[in-house]
Amino acid sequence: MPVKHPAPGDLEPIETASRDEIAALQLQRLQATLVLAYERVPHYRAAFDAAGVHPADCRSLADLAKFPFTGKADLRANYPFGMFARPRQELVRIHASSGTTGKPTVVGYTQGDIDTWAHLMARSIRASGGRPGDLVHVAYGYGLFTGGLGAHYGAERLGCTVVPMSGGQTEKQVQLIEDFRPDIIMVTPSYMQVLIEEFRRQGKDPRAMSLSVGIFGAEPWTEAMRREIEQGADIDAVDIYGLSEVMGPGVANECIESKDGPVIWEDHFYPEIVDPDTGVVLPDGEEGELVFTTLTKEALPVIRYRTRDLTRLLPPTARSMRRMGKIVGRSDDMLIIRGVNLFPTQIEELVFADGRLAGQYQLVVTRPDRLDELAVRVELLPAHRDVDRDAVGQALQGRIKAMTGVTATVDVGLPESIERTLVGKARRVVDQRQR
Ligand code: DLL
Repeated sequence: MPVKHPAPGDLEPIETASRDEIAALQLQRLQATLVLAYERVPHYRAAFDAAGVHPADCRSLADLAKFPFTGKADLRANYPFGMFARPRQELVRIHASSGTTGKPTVVGYTQGDIDTWAHLMARSIRASGGRPGDLVHVAYGYGLFTGGLGAHYGAERLGCTVVPMSGGQTEKQVQLIEDFRPDIIMVTPSYMQVLIEEFRRQGKDPRAMSLSVGIFGAEPWTEAMRREIEQGADIDAVDIYGLSEVMGPGVANECIESKDGPVIWEDHFYPEIVDPDTGVVLPDGEEGELVFTTLTKEALPVIRYRTRDLTRLLPPTARSMRRMGKIVGRSDDMLIIRGVNLFPTQIEELVFADGRLAGQYQLVVTRPDRLDELAVRVELLPAHRDVDRDAVGQALQGRIKAMTGVTATVDVGLPESIERTLVGKARRVVDQRQR
């Protein structure tokens, strides 16, 4: 299934095509992907046979619901290369995402896959306001993580100049941003917070940075965080979504003119929202678990991959393709505190709502006496270091109780008392309960 990509720069015809044209392309590509998976990947042949379905049973997009789901466990069970539809010798790249337990999840790419990925990342950077000639500072990690190299190839493809800084070395990041004067930064939102703090620590105004756009993803972030970063650095903050199993960054990207949720690049990925408990497909607009089927991948086609990410599908606006709402959380990060469901993003909104607090927080869950206890750690902004910390803590505790129903203890620390994540994804939850 080779895919020919138009020259980057202008909007591609498919970005503004009719829904019928998009659906026709999706069906044709979906049917080819089901055949590829069935014929080349023993796991899919066995799973389809066990479910009593055959690729020929897919005559409409809705027929996809008859096919079995794929989960992280299937990739683990076929570790390292068993899910590939091509011999390993035909792959040009491997990436891997480390789980908290056990073996990493391994993903592979043909030259054609790398080409599609670069193309979709170029489309994503363009949707974020990037143009050929822009200078792009990439502070996503390079290596097995897909963030750095994914951003890198996309920016090059668009015709930008790339600074492959990677994560960490915060002082050096600041120096290069000042000296090279990039237009765009690509980084996790939590590390952008750290960079803004480092500018201030050095007595510099982060709003004076040359940057005009930040392309933030790899972890959940809220509208409150968007406002904080946009005001703090005087930039447009745009959301990029992706996951290694489906490709890497650039599965969906927000448009700078609307900032109303990432547009799913539906010509390459078919999204569904399902009830996380029953697996039943839900209508657009309803919240549930996001599921993706790849439409053009060669080395690692994935059929109905359960992302664990909770969100909604939204109607098209700036492009003809559907959007996704901000990720509320992952079903596996959802905390259940004495029976009440709680996502870290709900606490994040409340922390940002108090102008005396820095947007840093950590949730520590313990079970000292058979009952869950939640401690919320936050810290003061340097300008408010002398306020009554108990009063600030009580106010936040009251808002958490009112908004979520959870009784938490709140620990308000001095500025910079919470450990920052300098490389990789922010660790907002420390779950110390015995399993
Ligand atoms: O995080 C790919 C990526 C890199 C995306 C850089 C964006 C930017 P994984 O390490 O496999 O891949 O983790 C994927 O991260 O299932 C979500 O839970 C989370 N995630 C990624 N982007 C967003 C986002 C990369 N914009 C997992 N908002 C996904 C919320 C996100 N969560």
